[in-house]
Amino acid sequence: MDLISARPGPSVQEVLAADVNPAPALMLTESPAAGQSTADLPIERYFSKEWHDRQVEQVWRRCWQLACRVEEIPNVGDHIIYEIVHDSLIVVRTGPDEIRAYINSCLHRGTLLRTEGGCVQRLRCPFHGWTWKLDGALVHVPQQWDLPHVDQAAMSLPEARVGTWGGYVFVNFDLQCEPLSTYLENLPEHFAAFDMENRYKAAHVAKIMPCNWKLAMEAFVEAYHVAIAHPQVLGYYGDSNTQYDVWPGIRHVSRMISVQGVPSPSMKGIPAERTIEEMRRDVPFFAGRPIEVGEGETARAKLAQRSREKIARSTQLDMSALSDTESLDLIEYMLFPNMVPWGGQALPITYRFRPNGDDPESSIMEIMFLFSKSPDGSHPTPATMTMLSADQKWADAPELGSAAMVADQDTDNLMRIQKGLRTSRKPGVTLARYQESRIRHFHATLDDYMNASPVHVRTTR
Ligand code: FES
Ligand SMILES: [Fe+2]
Repeated sequence: MDLISARPGPSVQEVLAADVNPAPALMLTESPAAGQSTADLPIERYFSKEWHDRQVEQVWRRCWQLACRVEEIPNVGDHIIYEIVHDSLIVVRTGPDEIRAYINSCLHRGTLLRTEGGCVQRLRCPFHGWTWKLDGALVHVPQQWDLPHVDQAAMSLPEARVGTWGGYVFVNFDLQCEPLSTYLENLPEHFAAFDMENRYKAAHVAKIMPCNWKLAMEAFVEAYHVAIAHPQVLGYYGDSNTQYDVWPGIRHVSRMISVQGVPSPSMKGIPAERTIEEMRRDVPFFAGRPIEVGEGETARAKLAQRSREKIARSTQLDMSALSDTESLDLIEYMLFPNMVPWGGQALPITYRFRPNGDDPESSIMEIMFLFSKSPDGSHPTPATMTMLSADQKWADAPELGSAAMVADQDTDNLMRIQKGLRTSRKPGVTLARYQESRIRHFHATLDDYMNASPVHVRTTR
């Protein structure tokens, strides 16, 4: 039996086909995973320190990863610090059209050159004052009479590779890595409709999570758990009819689409007014004021129209042609290893998941909202990151709105999953064939990287 014939309807494709403003062409396609294993997934990868250490070498020092947004470093000298396990990079704008990433370590005795972002025209070590220009050249060594043996010309700061796409800045420690453009595979083509360049970071919240970074990410790339973990959304959210796409030959990218403004298939038969009522209660963004559904109209079409009007007001952009799906739905992609960007305008989230330093059993999860820029430049400056501790709740960051409650429900479960895996006597986790096919796909790619031979110089040092 094929993977999707038993899935409850209406399918995402059936919902999109009935929309008033049609969806972008690539959303009108479906590619269920083919030929995936159904074997259990060994659990050491979620807590073993040996696995974690090998992951540093095989994944974090080889793969392209999201560092920041372009709009966070608009002026020459603007920089952020990107940290992953033990590695630290200064990601700095070195020219109007150039961003570079330097290993954040002084070439004298190793001090971190910068501990936080900002704007500087020189990188000066706080210990003895060795100083580099933004182009990486060493320009000043105090009391040089004592260091005649140091060849300053050979003391430029080591770099990582930098690439940009869609207003995102990516870095890769591996100087021999494949170009970002091929690493991204079909992602740019799929995001062509979503214009991510012209977004800005309206909110950015990070939180220490009580679990391995992979467990955190996995909880946000399937909707199988929604009916039990987030029952409050079932009146307006299509969970069990969510579409999952894994394309042949594509290793780094997968997708899911969940439709909103229609009830879950398990709540079939509920009236349109109820869908709207539930959304108004739970997601004020879509239905803050009452909406009437007239004869021949649908709750989804009404909600999409309401959403378009709201987005148009806040962005000063003409949203009249925005598709219903971009106005309402969860259009979620994953880019291996740890970035989960959403398309559309309704829920313009980007997630990032990283290990929490050297601890395989905790992680840092980030939620960013990327709203469209106003054409006149009147949108706010990019948000700085709010950092929540392990003890705080996502709801302590009011800028997240109703997304916080959902993330808190998941966080409670993730604590249980991490602890449960440690006490489990079953050596592997079992995955659903379709609804967890993106998790399976992620792990197949992860295994490829973990098992690859370290053939070339991985880092600059
Ligand atoms: S450690 Fe940086 S100048 Fe001495
Ligand atoms: Fe969830």
